[in-house]
Amino acid sequence: MPKGVVYLVRTEVVPDREAEWDHWHREVHVPEVLAERGFRHARRLRLVDGEETHRYWTVYDLESAEALQSYRQSPAAMRLAAQHDQKFGKAADLRRTTFEVLDDLRAPVAPSEAAVVGDDVHILLRPATTADEPAVLALLELQFEGGSPPTGFTEAQARASYRQFLGDPDAGLFLAETGGRVIGFAAATTYPTMRFGRRGHVEDLVVEEKFRTKGVGHRLLEYVERWARREGVTHLSTVIGLHREASRSFLTREGFSDASLTLRKRLGSGLVPPV
Ligand SMILES: CC(C)(COP(=O)(O)OP(=O)(O)OC[C@H]1O[C@@H](n2cnc3c(N)ncnc32)[C@H](O)[C@@H]1OP(=O)(O)O)[C@@H](O)C(=O)NCCC(=O)NCCS
Repeated sequence: MPKGVVYLVRTEVVPDREAEWDHWHREVHVPEVLAERGFRHARRLRLVDGEETHRYWTVYDLESAEALQSYRQSPAAMRLAAQHDQKFGKAADLRRTTFEVLDDLRAPVAPSEAAVVGDDVHILLRPATTADEPAVLALLELQFEGGSPPTGFTEAQARASYRQFLGDPDAGLFLAETGGRVIGFAAATTYPTMRFGRRGHVEDLVVEEKFRTKGVGHRLLEYVERWARREGVTHLSTVIGLHREASRSFLTREGFSDASLTLRKRLGSGLVPPV
């Protein structure tokens, strides 16, 4: 997603109109601004500490500088500014500034954890970062049926999906490493359901062959489960090929049951999953 721009509106309101302004601004004004083209998100802030002339800040996140420019020249922007002026006039002082977004950095979705598995293999479980992309994509190839990628698979698409995973608040990409080497990863997503609350799905879980049957898969899955619980997930699911007997017994031991049947329909010209 493009980084976009931040449009900051700082406001100082006279104390006897503050409650009225706050209500109107939250319920009427900001929702109207957000309905305009190019706006993605807004945060309303009130100063609690520190030196600042204007105590109310509205931080708008927009797609691009062009989107902001065309909004500011639009009849809608003029109408909204006029409304503000009409209602509050001299009771509110506004300052408008624009910022270019340099980076969007998120806190990791889970804390890292150390564990010892098998015959004294020290592993670290942690969320993946952009730097792990080559190692994770190399492991992903172990998921290919018969060693061949699904029809239509391209590395460029896999790289793009990797970055999408990292930027998606409803997705988790986790890995196990030993001595700085990535030896397994798990990719999971969460989604809302009306009947069962939030559900989770493990899309990929792979351990490098050399490190299998030591408990790495178990630790990775436990790590995913802890993340999923924190996200409010009530059920976790995964899909494996019917012929994958080893993976099936692993998942059964991990508490997964095969009580339901997954049916699938292909839409458009998307890739054909092997299972
Ligand atoms: C499925 C998979 C992730 C399991 O990873 P793993 O690291 O071997 O998993 P574990 O070591 O925790 O458990 C695997 C087996 O080793 C055994 N094991 C676990 N800890 C062990 C230990 N310390 N010493 C010896 N054996 C151990 C378990 O009994 C288990 O046996 P089971 O499958 O018969 O129940 C791995 O085999 C894999 O990458 N497969 C290909 C991808 C795949 O099919 N993924 C499916 C899920 S989407």
